[in-house]
Amino acid sequence: MMSKRLKPVSGLQGTIQIPGDKSISHRAVMFGSIAEGRTTVQGFLTGDDCLSTIDCFRKMGVSIHQENDTVIIEGKGLEGLKEPVDILDVGNSGTTIRLMLGILANTPFHSCITGDASIAKRPMKRVTGPLRGMGAAIEGRDEGNFVPLSIRGGHCKGTDYQSPVASAQVKSAILLAGVSAEGTTSVTEPHKSRDHTERMLGAFGCKVAVDGNTASIKGGQGLKGTHIEVPGDISSAAFFLVAGSIVPESEITLKKVGMNPTRTGVIDVLKQMGADITISPIEGEGAEPYADLTVRTSKLKGIEISGEIIPRLIDEIPIIALAATQASGVTVIKDAAELKVKETNRIDTVVHELKKMGAKIEATSDGMIISETSLLKGADVDSHGDHRIGMMLAVASCLCKGETTLLNSEAVAVSYPGFFGELDHLQSKNSRV
Ligand code: S3P
Repeated sequence: MMSKRLKPVSGLQGTIQIPGDKSISHRAVMFGSIAEGRTTVQGFLTGDDCLSTIDCFRKMGVSIHQENDTVIIEGKGLEGLKEPVDILDVGNSGTTIRLMLGILANTPFHSCITGDASIAKRPMKRVTGPLRGMGAAIEGRDEGNFVPLSIRGGHCKGTDYQSPVASAQVKSAILLAGVSAEGTTSVTEPHKSRDHTERMLGAFGCKVAVDGNTASIKGGQGLKGTHIEVPGDISSAAFFLVAGSIVPESEITLKKVGMNPTRTGVIDVLKQMGADITISPIEGEGAEPYADLTVRTSKLKGIEISGEIIPRLIDEIPIIALAATQASGVTVIKDAAELKVKETNRIDTVVHELKKMGAKIEATSDGMIISETSLLKGADVDSHGDHRIGMMLAVASCLCKGETTLLNSEAVAVSYPGFFGELDHLQSKNSRV
């Protein structure tokens, strides 16, 4: 367990290259591994989660060469995957396990899959339930709700699944099982979740029909290797969008940030709160769009965040909560009970840790209520092993009176291994307070 001492800062200035999108990096490796032929990936995120995905496919015999942010995958089709001798270990990665379950549901061999202590608490029934309905044999604790899970796949049949949650992981797992299932597979969600799977399956030559909140795929199309360019992760950029808004005398430019409309809720919300964010012309339309973002310090105001925007900013709620402590009035976050089943229960961890810094924040059953807090104070805080909680607390420390000690600071490597280096780089022009 590592800890980091963090001092308040007087301003954050400079330009940073945002590392690759985690959701897109996972999918590039997964789809490349089940495609026929070579796939090349540029801009791959070398965070722990995405390295776990590479490790799992190597254990199934896929040749994957990774050097920094370049990955080359020699795919031999779904049939080319080999029964793994070892247990597939996803580490901390919910996306790896849920999407892999969709792939394993249609492979005619036995596999075991598990993860770390956080994964051991996260519900899998939302995926194993519908996959069993399609014909996969999956066993695990509490009737297949918790790891370790054992899977014997093959012979899935198409389904028309009405998902009770807006979850891209659920949608993607079912669509991936549908890739080689008999007939057509459709998933309908209550609100639209991120659509990277639908977009990227198209890039691999596999057609997905999208009609409102329903995505459908015809089985048996097969994937063909391709080239994938991964834009920067807006979920990582969000820490600097908020830092640049709330730390006085800041101006930060973030290069090549993914602007997929199913992910940009954080920009909409920060702008509504009064943030000063400028967006360069959007490029890369057709695949995954991206732009450069510049943020300058501004006075924020409290708002209500609820309903269909929630899936578009679900991973950014911890850092939005911090922004809300610096916004005039009250911010109410509702309809976000999904936060309870992330890497930690993020309603509890956000509220508990920000309270230590003196924030006026209360948990509700499906979100939180946050009031303006004139001055945050340095404290001993803990990421609880959750990368996004760790980065949110590090940004909070910039504003605090006095020093902060962040326990379990190594967790940030899950999605942003260079995070602390970038924070230092943005402070370098300024003497620390
Ligand atoms: C992800 C989907 C989201 C998100 C997670 C990544 C993905 O989870 O929280 O960090 O890559 O599909 P849910 O789909 O379960 O909400």
